[in-house]
Amino acid sequence: MQDKKLYVKSYGCQMNVYDSHRMADLLEREGYVETAAPEDADLIILNTCHIREKAAEKVYSELGRLRVMKREAARGGRDVKVAVAGCVAQAEGAEIIRRAPVVDLVVGPQSYHRLPELIARGDRAVETEFPVEDKFAHLPPPTKAATRARGVTAFVTVQEGCDKFCTFCVVPYTRGAEISRPVEKILDEVRHLAASGVREITLIGQNVNAYHGEGFGRTFTLGQLLHRVASIPGIARLRYTTSHPRDVDDDLVAVHRDLPRLAPQLHLPVQSGSDRILDAMNRRHTRADYLRVIERLRAARPDLALTSDFIVGFPGETEQDFRDTLAIVDEVGYSGAFSFKYSQRPGTPGATMNDQIAEDVKAERLARLQAAINRNAAAFNAACRGRTFDVLMEKPGRLPGQLSGRSPYLQPVQVMAPDNLIGEMVSVTITELGTNSLFGVLADAPRIDAKSSRVAVGA
Ligand code: 5AD
Ligand code: SF4
Repeated sequence: MQDKKLYVKSYGCQMNVYDSHRMADLLEREGYVETAAPEDADLIILNTCHIREKAAEKVYSELGRLRVMKREAARGGRDVKVAVAGCVAQAEGAEIIRRAPVVDLVVGPQSYHRLPELIARGDRAVETEFPVEDKFAHLPPPTKAATRARGVTAFVTVQEGCDKFCTFCVVPYTRGAEISRPVEKILDEVRHLAASGVREITLIGQNVNAYHGEGFGRTFTLGQLLHRVASIPGIARLRYTTSHPRDVDDDLVAVHRDLPRLAPQLHLPVQSGSDRILDAMNRRHTRADYLRVIERLRAARPDLALTSDFIVGFPGETEQDFRDTLAIVDEVGYSGAFSFKYSQRPGTPGATMNDQIAEDVKAERLARLQAAINRNAAAFNAACRGRTFDVLMEKPGRLPGQLSGRSPYLQPVQVMAPDNLIGEMVSVTITELGTNSLFGVLADAPRIDAKSSRVAVGA
């Protein structure tokens, strides 16, 4: 029998990337082989994001394109199935099938382990319950071949869902209540990935530092879990994301001091620098609380690089509130940050608040915020020139003979280096700054200029 082909497209967060891989691993057992070309696929899965209106709308424009593709395939006698998975599936359910007749299946993030059975049934189906069984218990680990094809870094979900209910956010509704995966399951998955050549693991969760999984007869904090994961042979570097400032406990602060394998970089969203807005957002922390958390973390790990998410134009945000946000960018000195215009999400408290901010005001504030973020990021990158640090080589770079990797601070780094260094942690000295990456040379080898591929003589 000929293999069936699967095309999966991920939108949004890293958890969707992880979920897409797990869906592909599951469907591999059913005879599906992944393809990068949607026009060759027998099954197309869109793994969607509902976080902002723009993200959700992207799905419908993609479905418009797929409609044409499906019709053409049908003319050639080929039946193509289209599934919508992820958070738009969860939020909109049967509405998607009504609005987009091209869709055969709608499957929420907690139900994708049921995909084989839904596909086998053959009729159009919507599966968006939060089932009692644990989906992870039904998902096979990735095959070695799949892991190799995906490279030397991997995400592992340790926690899912959120109980924080920030008033702008759909996550507690689409991903459900917070749950933590058991410790042994996570360690098994990491061991399996390490055996297939993965060197860097990022533990992921919507509120990852609320982790409280069971293991070895007790409950583990994220800090304790990180210690266990770091001791797995082959794992050279660890990260975790995304954290909530409220849940940074002393244990977690201490791992930044005690665990050299933990990268000195942390994504710690603040969303706003104004106490009034933080309160309206139901963030459950003040500006001072946030800065105090950063102080504790930097006392443990002085070179910690911080990144954040920001929302501008939340209902009621005044020019002064916004200036407090601009000020916190400079006060923290972020190495980078994501920033968004507030987007009204149906069903969240923010959507019906008074004093919604006009689109042009949001756009103008976003531009000013992004300028401040870029200024800070540029200063952070400039301070890296001349420094030597460990870079994990991930893949071939843009130029022949060049490899691309990541610094401990998550910056992309381009280095002239032989292919056999892919998967190795190497010492690199940063020589030049590009727009989107740093350029460096191997610190322990003859110097080769990263940009021009000239071999330089001398040190
Ligand atoms: N509008 C704009 N940005 C949002 N985010 C979450 N919900 C919204 C919304 N309704 C942003 C937050 C979050 C990031 C993943 O997306 O900054 O941290
Ligand atoms: Fe959304 Fe807030 Fe939960 Fe983050 S902490 S997922 S922003 S509700």
